[in-house]
Amino acid sequence: MSERLVTTPAAVRGDVVLRRRRFLDAIDERLGLKALTYPVPEHANKLAYSLGGLSLVTFVLMVGTGIVLTQFYEPDPRLAHASVRRIMTSVDLGNFIRGVHFWGAMAMIVLVGLHLLRVFVSGSYKRPREGTWVVGVVLAGITAAFFFTGTVLKWDQESLEALEHNIEIGKLLGRSGFWFSPSFGSIPLLTRLYVVHISLLPALFTLVVAAHLLLVKRHGLAPSPFRRGPEPEPTEPFSRHLARLGGFALILMAILTVLAVLVPPGQGPSPVEGIEVTKPLWPLLWVYPIENWVGVVGILWATLAIFVALLLVPALDRGPERAPSKRLAIIIPAAIIVAAILALTVYAFFTPVASHIGM
Ligand code: HEM
Repeated sequence: MSERLVTTPAAVRGDVVLRRRRFLDAIDERLGLKALTYPVPEHANKLAYSLGGLSLVTFVLMVGTGIVLTQFYEPDPRLAHASVRRIMTSVDLGNFIRGVHFWGAMAMIVLVGLHLLRVFVSGSYKRPREGTWVVGVVLAGITAAFFFTGTVLKWDQESLEALEHNIEIGKLLGRSGFWFSPSFGSIPLLTRLYVVHISLLPALFTLVVAAHLLLVKRHGLAPSPFRRGPEPEPTEPFSRHLARLGGFALILMAILTVLAVLVPPGQGPSPVEGIEVTKPLWPLLWVYPIENWVGVVGILWATLAIFVALLLVPALDRGPERAPSKRLAIIIPAAIIVAAILALTVYAFFTPVASHIGM
């Protein structure tokens, strides 16, 4: 009898398994994917500890949708407004891609903010992760710059007023604010901000986020202050954390798709110089009442104060305690600042529109 005739189903299955293992080993030998199975703590898989990863997912989504938008956008003040309108009305899927880009920006602001709050509340910035925190603050600054420059690009009345405020702040900075002057360089400030939005900021973000992730890998995740008893050894493979993150990312993308279809972003009228009739978008709204009280200089000081305070956090709270209930000296002032920002946002929403330039 030939050997072929005595082969059993179990032997065939064993052969398939062996071949698959050899195939995977051959791939791993070349790409080193098994390196992604290093152990991480169990709490890494919680949503609260996936917010940084989700921020990164939104960044990638912004780059993808942004590349499509740049094929149709005209970064010239005479053409920009009409080109956005054309993306909305004539480009195939243009309104949808723009919607995902807009809602993705909102999601990124919320996710980065929540990630920062999670790291703060769980005291994860403490030794030896102070550097990870400081690099994170830089990432928050770059995210804010992305948001601001993006607001200007849509080039409606709201955008022009945002840009005029930017020019005023540039003047307040004296010589160091030269870049924001419309008379600097030979191309319009809108075009220069566009270049920053589509090349400088993405490149900077990529470099800084790489440093951030290398530091997270170097130090591992901080222990959770909400677990009772001693912290167990990390046992969860990082690859499983990535799979879970992928699940969260799919849910996020489904939400963004629904928002982009049902609530697509609009565009205001073509901008008119010298009038102030709009308010900023909600992430920037909290500075509006401050501007009402002290003028444009208030935006500069309030923003600087927040970033300096964030940078100082690891220096101000250096004890070993991570539980929020044992760090009230920093948790209470931070809660007051967050409550004040929320209250200012709500107040600004109901405040009538006012003029500030030249105040
Ligand atoms: C802007 C984009 C950002 C991205 C893409 C990002 C990404 C990440 C990722 C993937 C982690 C791993 C754990 C987790 O997701 O919670 C992490 C941890 C961390 N991030 Fe961020 N991050 C960003 C912004 C920030 C900001 C604004 C801060 C604080 C000011 C910050 C401070 C930290 C710290 C201290 C850790 C270590 C936390 C721990 O050990 O538990 N990050 N970040």
